[in-house]
Amino acid sequence: MEKLVSLCQRRGFIFPSSDIYGGLSACWDYGPVGVELKRNVKEAWWRASVQDRDDMVGLDTAILMNPRVWEASGHVTAFSDPLVECKGCHQRFRADDLPPEAEGRCPSCGGEFTEPQQFNLMFKTFMGPVEDAASVVYLRPETAQGIFVNFANVLNTSRKRLPFGIAQVGKSFRNEITTGNFIFRSREFEQMEIEYFVRPGSDDEWFAYWVKERLGWYAGLGIRPENLRLRQHTEDELAHYSRCCSDIEYNFPMGWAELEGIANRADYDLKQHMEYSGKGLTYLDEETNKHIIPYVIEPSAGVDRTVLAILCDAYDEEPDKDEIRVLFHFHPDIAPVKVAVLPLSRKENLAAFARDVYASLRPCFATQYDDTQSIGRRYRRQDELGTPYCVTVDFQSLEDNMATIRERDTMNQIRVPVPALAATLQNKLAGEDIFVLPEGGVIWKEETKGG
Ligand code: GAP
Repeated sequence: MEKLVSLCQRRGFIFPSSDIYGGLSACWDYGPVGVELKRNVKEAWWRASVQDRDDMVGLDTAILMNPRVWEASGHVTAFSDPLVECKGCHQRFRADDLPPEAEGRCPSCGGEFTEPQQFNLMFKTFMGPVEDAASVVYLRPETAQGIFVNFANVLNTSRKRLPFGIAQVGKSFRNEITTGNFIFRSREFEQMEIEYFVRPGSDDEWFAYWVKERLGWYAGLGIRPENLRLRQHTEDELAHYSRCCSDIEYNFPMGWAELEGIANRADYDLKQHMEYSGKGLTYLDEETNKHIIPYVIEPSAGVDRTVLAILCDAYDEEPDKDEIRVLFHFHPDIAPVKVAVLPLSRKENLAAFARDVYASLRPCFATQYDDTQSIGRRYRRQDELGTPYCVTVDFQSLEDNMATIRERDTMNQIRVPVPALAATLQNKLAGEDIFVLPEGGVIWKEETKGG
């Protein structure tokens, strides 16, 4: 994890928030490369969850909501963790997350703890110019409630029939007592949540469907199946709204931990909001002509945890001559940079040629142009960014109008006519073997791994 954190900072993936002021606990900023990776993850999720399906619609709701929402949802009373304070050094800890070796005493000074008290995890702020109890609002701790309170709006405007789902991606905030493990548990993070509304009685079937669907999504992003597992919650672990829940866990460097929770929330939320708002949130069942309250299956994923899992899974070190090559084996769909154009020299005629190649590829892929330092160093830099393909132009290119494509994972190289570059790269990014050549193409260099 330490290597990953330092590489992420060095290459512009993730920085501590407000770095020049010493950071802010459990808050992170995504840099120029990290923001692209994160956007690709969110876009892949949106495509799979909304655009590729006709039973789903999207939403983007406000972070600040009427505080009654959080009374109805149960968060004001039940969204809390047990907090203990050391009587000696006054440090505070989550009582259910103490290391076993501390044996119930303060891990810092060995002091005795106070009795556990419930600590609510919602951040509070004030709306408007008066800071009193009546103006308290919360930063949402989950995006889900924005979906539930819009159930009738969506139903009336989209005319969806059961079963159907509503998806949302957005920021959530939790004043976590214990944070850490880089972006795994932070106080400001992003969620990708689906609330899938079904007929009561079909909920078990849809629960099983979503577990399979979501596991398949992670595998499709290139995460190795052996690093993913499913864990069913025990009765005492269940959240206050949940009938049953399974976590998709990833084998992070610190051990197996939750990537996504898939819960059967039954009719808890719609019922609560009907009671607190006095508004009807029922569904007129076309089969029976009766009003029913749909059940809800909720696959709830963390954007930042998905990014962390992808970084961990793709990170690799391999011997390369006398050095160690560090690289990310990102799946091409989520790689922040797809192609890098590297002129062998900065000489004017070659630079102009390389710029033209760059201009021709930029509309097709996220492409970088890099003409600094030696070609070897530039390859290493692109490996550390996880760029699947580098395109090199040299002085011979000026004569034969050909360029070299180097594959990140194998370091094998082919040489192809410049007019065929974009189509060839497109095919390679879609999974074609590097040695499948376009017309006029030749094999340039066949590497032996670690050679
Ligand atoms: N609406 C249900 C819900 O919020 P959750 O299990 O509390 O369920 C869902 O959160 C996902 O959000 C988690 O699986 C995790 O990926 C992400 N998440 C939750 N708390 C987080 C935190 N403090 N930092 C980063 N990600 C977090």
